[in-house]
Amino acid sequence: MTLSELKIYKTKAEKITCLTAYDASFSKLFDECGVDIILVGDSLGNVIQGGENTLNVSMDDMIYHTKAVARGVDSALLIADMPYQSYTNAEQTLENAKRLIDAGAQMVKFEGGFEHKTSFEILQKNNIPVCGHLGLQPQSVVEMGGYKVQGQDKISAKKILDDALLLESLGVCVLVLECVPAKLAARISNELTIPTIGIGAGINCDGQVLVSYDMLGITQGRLPKFVKNFLADSGDIKAAVNAFIHSVKNQEFPTDQHSY
Ligand code: KIV
Repeated sequence: MTLSELKIYKTKAEKITCLTAYDASFSKLFDECGVDIILVGDSLGNVIQGGENTLNVSMDDMIYHTKAVARGVDSALLIADMPYQSYTNAEQTLENAKRLIDAGAQMVKFEGGFEHKTSFEILQKNNIPVCGHLGLQPQSVVEMGGYKVQGQDKISAKKILDDALLLESLGVCVLVLECVPAKLAARISNELTIPTIGIGAGINCDGQVLVSYDMLGITQGRLPKFVKNFLADSGDIKAAVNAFIHSVKNQEFPTDQHSY
């Protein structure tokens, strides 16, 4: 999967599949099943490290897991998350993004919009592909007052749309939209030429991402309504991943039940 192929997917209206991975065994399995994008998410702070949030994930953690995941990937596009406080200014962003690329990532992802303008600009100048992340931003869970749906009123919806358009103008290649009303995600996906990848953002995004441990039913406790356990029917990991790919490609997932 290359960047230009991603854009073609959007033009052809073929849905893009993305799962998180944190080690080589899972990334190899996802890659062999044909998942389009593998994301080394900082959700590893929750599902691997057992933290309450992602705020304790370090650059060293991300590099360790990115190296492991990269060893299992052959065809999928590999994106790695920049962790909390690793992109507070342009110089720091560039240095840390380069470390993730050296570890095997083809693209880096970080959360936020206008407030990180100089970080987006410096990566664009240095030809480092970037994935944006708007809507619910787990690294800002404290400021956002918890894991809540974003963009529900006119002002916050406009801010997300404006940020999305700004990110596209700053060379961002892909945009994750997390926990936003399906109607807003549809509008953003329509206005952008870059692909949007939704998680709790409705069926009209250009692709869908889930935390792999959530969609395999490994994560315990109360899960957000956008999660579907794809392992429940077959009890087989490969079958679950194939069911996820099939459901996303055929627009059977997410349903209204998984959307806001
Ligand atoms: O860290 C992560 O897993 C993510 C996804 C939820 C998109 O950012």
